[in-house]
Order: sequence, then C-alpha cells, then structure tokens
Amino acid sequence: MPDATRATVIVNVDIPGPVISRHLYGHFAEHLGRCIYGGFWVGEDSPIPNVGGIRQDVVQALRELGIPNLRWPGGCFADEYHWRDGIGPRADRPRMINTNWGDVEENNHFGTHEFMALCELLGAEPYINGNVGSGTVREMSEWVEYLTRSGTSPMVELRRANGREEPWRVPFWGLGNEPWGGGGRMRAETYTDLARQYALFCKNHGDNVLHRIAAGASEDDYAWTEALMRAVDELSHDTFPVLPFEAISVHYYTIGGTWTTKGSATQFDDDDYWRTIVAAQDVEPLLRRHIAVMDRYDPQRQVGLVLDEWGTWWDVEPGTNPGFLYQQNTMRDALVASLHFDVFHRLADRLSMANIAQTVNVLQAMLLTDEETGALVRTPTYHVFEMNKVHHDATSVPVHVRAPQAQREVAGRTVPTLSASASVHAGRCHVSLTNTDLEHEVLVDLDLRGASLTELTARVLAPQSAGSFNSAEHPEDVRPQPLKLASTATGVRLTLPPHSFAILKAA
Ligand code: AHR
Repeated sequence: MPDATRATVIVNVDIPGPVISRHLYGHFAEHLGRCIYGGFWVGEDSPIPNVGGIRQDVVQALRELGIPNLRWPGGCFADEYHWRDGIGPRADRPRMINTNWGDVEENNHFGTHEFMALCELLGAEPYINGNVGSGTVREMSEWVEYLTRSGTSPMVELRRANGREEPWRVPFWGLGNEPWGGGGRMRAETYTDLARQYALFCKNHGDNVLHRIAAGASEDDYAWTEALMRAVDELSHDTFPVLPFEAISVHYYTIGGTWTTKGSATQFDDDDYWRTIVAAQDVEPLLRRHIAVMDRYDPQRQVGLVLDEWGTWWDVEPGTNPGFLYQQNTMRDALVASLHFDVFHRLADRLSMANIAQTVNVLQAMLLTDEETGALVRTPTYHVFEMNKVHHDATSVPVHVRAPQAQREVAGRTVPTLSASASVHAGRCHVSLTNTDLEHEVLVDLDLRGASLTELTARVLAPQSAGSFNSAEHPEDVRPQPLKLASTATGVRLTLPPHSFAILKAA
C-alpha cells in the first residue's frame, strides 16, 4: 500500500447554512422492468410475504432509510399513463403496452390506490407525475380531484365507489416528464405554455397544497431553464402575481462511457472508474449554472430546483431484457451517490428535492430482488443512503478541505479525491467523508470548530475493491463497519481507506 495522503478537514459547527431538506434523499419508481412488478408489487396471492400485494421486505428496507418521498409512475411511462385505467377491480382494468420499456404488457394492477397504500406503508410523501405528453388538462385535473378532494364531487364519488372515503394528501405534483424528448418532443416555449396551463388546473382542494414541478432541462440545457424561469418572472408582474409552478426539474445521469456504450456495471478498469467519478463531480457546476439562471429571474428563491432523476446508468446486466434497465451496483456507484450528497448539501438553499433513479431493480437501485428466489439484496448505494440519513432536515454547516495531495489528473483535469460535507441537528454534528482514491488511504485530521463535541463515533463503507458488490449469494460483501478514531489536540484523526465512504457523529 503506498503512503497515506494527509488532509485537514475543518467544520464550522457554529455557522449555520441552509436546511438540508430530507426530500433531497427522495426516490423514483417507474413502471419499468422489475421496479414496480416484482420489485414493489407481487400481488396478494404471492408466496412472498406482502401487505395487500406489496412486498413487506422491500417496505421494511426502505423504511430503514427514512424514505421521504416517492416519484411515480414515471419517467417516460408517465406520459403514456392514463390514471383511470389503474382504478377499480383489478380484473376489470384495461391492459396496455409499455412501449417505452420492453414493449411488454402492463395490466394496470398497480394503480393509484396501490401507490398511495405503498406510500402509507413507507411513510413517504407521494410525488405523482401527471401526463402532459399524451393526456389532457381535464384528465390531470380530475386525477388531482380524485386524490385530494373531500365532500361531494364526481371524482370524490368515484373514489368512494372504489373503497376510499377520505382524500389522500399529495404534496408533490409533476407536470409531465422530459417534454423535450419522450414526453412530447416540444420546444421549451411550447412546453412552458403548457406547464402554465396544466398547473393552473391542478387545484388545491381543501387543505391539500400542491407543490407543482414543471419538467425541466436535460443536463446542461440552460436555455430550457431560462424559458421556464421567464414564465415565473412574467407572472410575478401580473395584476394578480402568482407562481406558475413552485419548482422546476432537471435530469442528470452519471454516464462513465457514452450514451451508446455506457460500459459494464461491474467490469471496469481504472480509466472507466475515473471517468465515472469525474462525471459524478460534474453535477455540481451543472446545478450551479442552472441555479445562476434561476437567480436572475427569481432572486428571492421562491422556486425550487428538483433533480428528480439522477444516478448511474450502465449497460444492462448481460442476459436481461435491454428494455428493463437492470444493472448491478458496486462500490463505485456508492461513491457516485456520496459525492452527489455532498453537492446537494452545499446547494440546499435552492435544490429542494432530488430523486435517485430508481428504487428497486432499475438503474442505480437501493434494492435488487432475485427473479427466481425472490431474495432481497441491499446494494452499496443503499448503505450510503442509510448512513447519510442523519442529514435529513439538518442544518448544513461549512466544510473546508485542505488536502493538496488528495487529487489526481483525469484526462487533463485535476480532480479532488477527498470530498466532505457536514450538518448539525439537535446538538449533534455529522460529517460525511468520501475518498475516491483507488490506492491511497487518507489520514484525515478533523477539526470541529465552534462547539465542544466529545462523544465521537464513525462508520465506514470500505469493501475490498471499488468493484465489490452484494448479491443473493454474498449479500454482505459491502456493508458499513465501525471506523477507529483517535483524539488529537484540535479534534479527531481517522484513516479513510481507498474507495471508501464514512460518516462521523459528534455529540
Ligand atoms: O429512469 C429511466 C428513464 O430515464 C426515465 O423514464 C426517463 O425520464 C429518463 O430518460
């Protein structure tokens, strides 16, 4: 093992920054491959233990993450989904073809009532994404009414006839998905007008207040953000000033290769690894530029930025349906997640929500289920979400990393190999630390300034290699372990192994 790299990390515990919304740890579940069917939903007659058709073990594992919200039913699927097909007796529900994902039959057995039951079991807030691409304003408006209205109305009667008396609470509402692509091939101006119109007819019924999210840019399409924000500016000067929508979204996936050859999830060399780490780090300048555009039109920061699709995207696992986007998940993926969270914590004053794609069996999943045996596996990414849940709704505090040796050249760029962020909550401070170096451990001197915190503990995710993963045969190859700490005159010293993620608690 080469010599350890040295680093100093200073945390200003007494300088409060923005609150890190728990919704930055949100999730996304689409009717895609085995995410809904086989992942969440097995049906009431399944031998797999379930509550009304929903897998118990999946619910339990996600509850351990404190899953704050769940985006559904897509993604691309949302713009082909007609919600009335997914209500009423399951045997009578019409079937459709999921043209986006594998061209397979969708029997609509998992619909509105099943999704809301899932959210209740998870303790998660629903984020429902309506259909702008192939739906109508009326269809979306009636879905909102069906879900959230009480008293008497045509949609309330329909809901009652389907067995649900009380309205549900739905805080988050999406206005379509990727309208520049599969959601309608629209120009930014066309979609902006539609978003204004659709949002207007998504009413607040009773005390249910919708946080309406306009479908935003692909990656670095800042002009798309600009078009949406012009609408915010324009309507703020109206005779009766209003916000057309409360947030706009953006999608950014970490691709280590190219969109046509993304590379294997598990078989990668050092160059592939570093390209991935750099692609993950690039989310920060990208989000900052979107935020800079938003700041020009909305300096008061009334409109949130929502990264409602992010994560790694690899070539599908060999032998699986190419339309199902099933991929394994290694320590490399876990580091992509921990790097994103450091960025989210830094940008928490504008970034209001983020949703990793996707929760079970699709892309950078938390959980994988075995098709034959039904066995459930927690991925390395799951463990990062679990270790970092201490940051939910905590106050971010500034972190300075002084580590001149902790860097490396990647394709002509100098990139840092140590990343950190921190928060405080109820007299406790939590520091997240990521070492992306493949060979060097980092000896970190942590200086917690502005508070006297003496009880220190830490856990680390540090498997044998960056390519380590969990499987049904080896479900615990990657799991958190206690990390040794040593007190120093100014704080605490710890050693971060290569390709590792650690969380430290000080109280
Ligand atoms: O997450 C998979 C797909 O990626 C989503 O359906 C779509 O919105 C994006 O292109």
